[in-house]
Amino acid sequence: MIFGAPRLAALAGRTCHAARHLQQAVNASTQAPQMIKVSAAGEKKNVALIELHRPKALNALCAQLMDELTATLKQLDQDKSVGAIVLTGNERVFAAGADIAEMEGKTFAPIFAERFAQKWMDITKTRKPIIAAVNGFCLGGGCEVAMMCDIIYAGENAHFGQPEIKIGTIPGAGGTQRLPRFVGKSVAMEMCLTGERINAYEAQQAGLASKVFPSTKVVLEAIKLGERIAENSPLLVQMVKESVNAAYEMTLSSGLQFERRLFHSTFATKDRKEGMKAFVEKRVPQWKGE
Ligand code: CAA
Repeated sequence: MIFGAPRLAALAGRTCHAARHLQQAVNASTQAPQMIKVSAAGEKKNVALIELHRPKALNALCAQLMDELTATLKQLDQDKSVGAIVLTGNERVFAAGADIAEMEGKTFAPIFAERFAQKWMDITKTRKPIIAAVNGFCLGGGCEVAMMCDIIYAGENAHFGQPEIKIGTIPGAGGTQRLPRFVGKSVAMEMCLTGERINAYEAQQAGLASKVFPSTKVVLEAIKLGERIAENSPLLVQMVKESVNAAYEMTLSSGLQFERRLFHSTFATKDRKEGMKAFVEKRVPQWKGE
């Protein structure tokens, strides 16, 4: 198990068994990650906490970090002990964007050939909910990664921005596409055209972050949220995520049809039966994930 900073360790209140299990799962398919830390958090240790850990470069999202992150998410998605995932950085920075030093010497052909940033989209293939707990700079690719998560909680010192225009490029991992879907055209245009940042409260007001917390509390609050989500049937949680995400890909009538069919299909699950039975019997449901 790779432990995080002492404060986060205490905060997460992890036990060795669950933490070891989680790390073993991560290590099974990847080399031990160097640029992220993974641990089991929450009272039941059923929330996976991923900390981006490349502090000297402000968590710049180099190829190795993104490989580690996407491989870890894939692994956590298969791990039945994990009900939700929290992705965070540190108190100074979530991530300052794609690694400019890594990109600086490149030309069109190699960046096109390697499909730069395409692999980042694997984050969105994760079926379990991911909560981004953002403190400090959340810029460029960092903001794009946060937007690939399902819920953003912001610390009071968080700043969001798409500053690519200032370094002679444009957002390449969803900034011009996802940001308008969160904040609308006008705010997105202003951010992408000027490269200027918005603060945590502006992000909340614009719909980018759902809540703002003191910076020292945001990770804990994200973990608590993950715990509340993990109390529900894992099967139904994934269906909800799939259905909400479909709203961004479909027309309203197709989306409503998709949602209705998924709703109908819940009646083929044990958990739907158990959930309604438990309600009628005034007891807590026992989920099977089936
Ligand atoms: N890539 C690589 N290294 C980075 C980096 C990045 N995106 N952001 C910061 N760093 C490095 C700096 O080079 C510096 O390294 P050294 O100590 O070795 O010099 C270290 O992190 C600390 O950075 P600063 O000294 O600049 O710290 P600061 O507090 O003065 O400023 C900052 C912080 C405002 C975030 C500033 O670092 C900054 O503007 N960073 C770049 C932000 C940016 O342009 N992001 C977009 C990248 S492009 C992209 O993301 C494309 C895409 O859509 C996929």
